[in-house]
Amino acid sequence: MSPGGTVAEALAQARARGVAPLDARLMLGRLLGQSPTRLIAHDEQPLGEAVARWADWLERRARGEPLAYLLGEKEFHGLMLEVTPDVLVPRPETELLVDWAGELLRGRPEPATVVDLGTGSGAIALAVKHAHPLAQVTATDVSAAALGVARRNAERLGLEVEFVEASWWQGLEGRSFAIVVANPPYIRAGDAALASLGHEPLAALTPGADGLAALRAIVDGASAHLDASGWLLLEHGFDQAEDVRGLLAAARFEAVATRADLAGHPRASGGRRPARTP
Ligand SMILES: C[S@@+](CC[C@H](N)C(=O)[O-])C[C@H]1O[C@@H](n2cnc3c(N)ncnc32)[C@H](O)[C@@H]1O
Repeated sequence: MSPGGTVAEALAQARARGVAPLDARLMLGRLLGQSPTRLIAHDEQPLGEAVARWADWLERRARGEPLAYLLGEKEFHGLMLEVTPDVLVPRPETELLVDWAGELLRGRPEPATVVDLGTGSGAIALAVKHAHPLAQVTATDVSAAALGVARRNAERLGLEVEFVEASWWQGLEGRSFAIVVANPPYIRAGDAALASLGHEPLAALTPGADGLAALRAIVDGASAHLDASGWLLLEHGFDQAEDVRGLLAAARFEAVATRADLAGHPRASGGRRPARTP
């Protein structure tokens, strides 16, 4: 690259390092404070003072660091969220849980109580509160650092959500909710997928062993924390639907069902606590 380099040269560098053109345009757009469209129309412009940061970002992206960590943000369910390496990058498939909770909220008297267990960046809790302002939303995480990110997102977006540091149900003693949602860590220990996710917090990705420990802990304690006829909605791996439906059935949940994500993978399962405990 010529001293300083141009946008066209930077894009060629990115191609040579195997970085997707869209990612490269978003990174350059952020560094130069311009829209990706303007960058393409004026690709002869110099990087100027942004050249050192570009070199750093290109290297990190080429090594697999998520784009969201470089940009410091990720869009989820129409909300732009701050993300840092302390939180999982929210995934589009998780929007399924928000929409499912929304359907249930529409059929309930307001204000309904909702808890998002393992909130990370606050993605699910904040999206539910944004779509259903009357809902009383609580969000928990065992990670104080993650809760810090989630709190900042809530403040910036002006969304009133209660945050509680808790390990699944420990920390929520005596509390009961109409809807419980969770996207817990569920990848099996040793799963090849973990190798490509090394930049995200391990505790957000896997509970170890068969990947079901967190889902089990949540299902096991759920009945004591759900209102009568309350719902538990859980995200899980594409090949864990049968196991999770089994856990829900064993815990006497009714109307147990699985929903698929946009890619057609069974991605979330849920059930209703009986109106009366048998
Ligand atoms: C898969 S991430 C989901 C984050 C966020 N809900 C989302 O969908 O983007 C799982 C989250 O569960 C949290 N977590 C892990 N173990 C936990 C525990 N014992 N109690 C509460 N949260 C826990 C992690 O810190 C992480 O934020």
